[in-house]
Amino acid sequence: MASLTAKYRPRRFAEVAGQDAVKSILSRASATGKIAPAYMFSGTRGVGKTTIARIFAKALNCEKAPTGEPCNECSMCRQANAGSAVDIIEIDAASHGGVNDVRALKEDVGYAPLEGRYKVFIIDEAHMLSTAAFNALLKTLEEPPARVTFILASTEAHKFPATILSRCQHYVFKMLPQAELGAHLEKLLVAEGVEYEQAAVRIIARRGAGSVRDSISMLGQALAYSTGALREAEVRTCLGLAGQEVFFRPHGSHSGPRPAALVAHPAAGAGPRPGPGIFFSASFPAAGAICFCCTKPEKPLCRSWGCPPKKPPSGWNGRNALALRTSTPAGK
Ligand SMILES: Nc1ncnc2c1ncn2[C@@H]1O[C@H](COP(=O)(O)OP(=O)(O)OP(=O)(O)O)[C@@H](O)[C@H]1O
Ligand SMILES: [Mg+2]
Ligand SMILES: [Zn+2]
Repeated sequence: MASLTAKYRPRRFAEVAGQDAVKSILSRASATGKIAPAYMFSGTRGVGKTTIARIFAKALNCEKAPTGEPCNECSMCRQANAGSAVDIIEIDAASHGGVNDVRALKEDVGYAPLEGRYKVFIIDEAHMLSTAAFNALLKTLEEPPARVTFILASTEAHKFPATILSRCQHYVFKMLPQAELGAHLEKLLVAEGVEYEQAAVRIIARRGAGSVRDSISMLGQALAYSTGALREAEVRTCLGLAGQEVFFRPHGSHSGPRPAALVAHPAAGAGPRPGPGIFFSASFPAAGAICFCCTKPEKPLCRSWGCPPKKPPSGWNGRNALALRTSTPAGK
């Protein structure tokens, strides 16, 4: 199966999930022709930065322009969709972020758009530009020639010198709430003609942790694994999840905050157990506590139940989490 993320990369602002403020500002700018010399799109991975940069560049050059949405039918739009529009230049700063690359780019900036209305430079992973490259860019960013605009996209806005940031209109892309991710995944499933259980979609949306790309990749993985419809049980197995609502019951001595052992509660049902991971709790009162289990397999299993760390282990990002609830053994 072709990658779902590539297949479903939105081609119009209206198809992009979330990011409402950014979409409406850029769509209006495109419709009115009030274009800034430089934009900065920052935010976590896989939330639409590159996608929106391409849609914006396409709308600016659409034959129906000025327009708030690209038509996706004219020859300019078709070239942009095929990645062959000469006036939309994408630069991957991770591999072309040296000062010589920026010098070449500056020469290119000097030429008027060849076929379109605007020359748009999309610099992806822009935080990877070298210091010399940043410096070489400064003047151009401030006063690019007419009909040239820059879009810098990056997951790490804090790495940019203030001199660059202050020259850009800065838009911060948001992680998508679980409900919005779920709704987007359901649209894709309908488009693919796949039946699904809502609980299965909910699991993927929760595990996607705000990233559309991660969620869609997981969906692709689950679809490759499943036979026909997308079922909750298969999604759990495929993603290596134990039942999210696994209940653990401390056994043995329960004096103080130290359970002697934890065993899976029968209510957990069958299915894979959580792998070794760091177990911690914010508090571990005798009356039972909500705990979390970080199931990163590379981390050693913490066996010292008596000293629950007060904070999540460093590097824990809330993903791979199982909500576990301890319950006080009967009679205690
Ligand atoms: N807001 C969104 N709406 C719909 N699809 C999205 C959205 N964000 C990401 N996607 C999906 O994820 C894929 C990657 O998105 P995109 O390249 O825009 O992410 P990004 O924010 O640039 O990520 P990175 O920081 O890793 O470069 C797209 O092809 C699309 O399938
Ligand atoms: Mg990107
Ligand atoms: Zn068009």
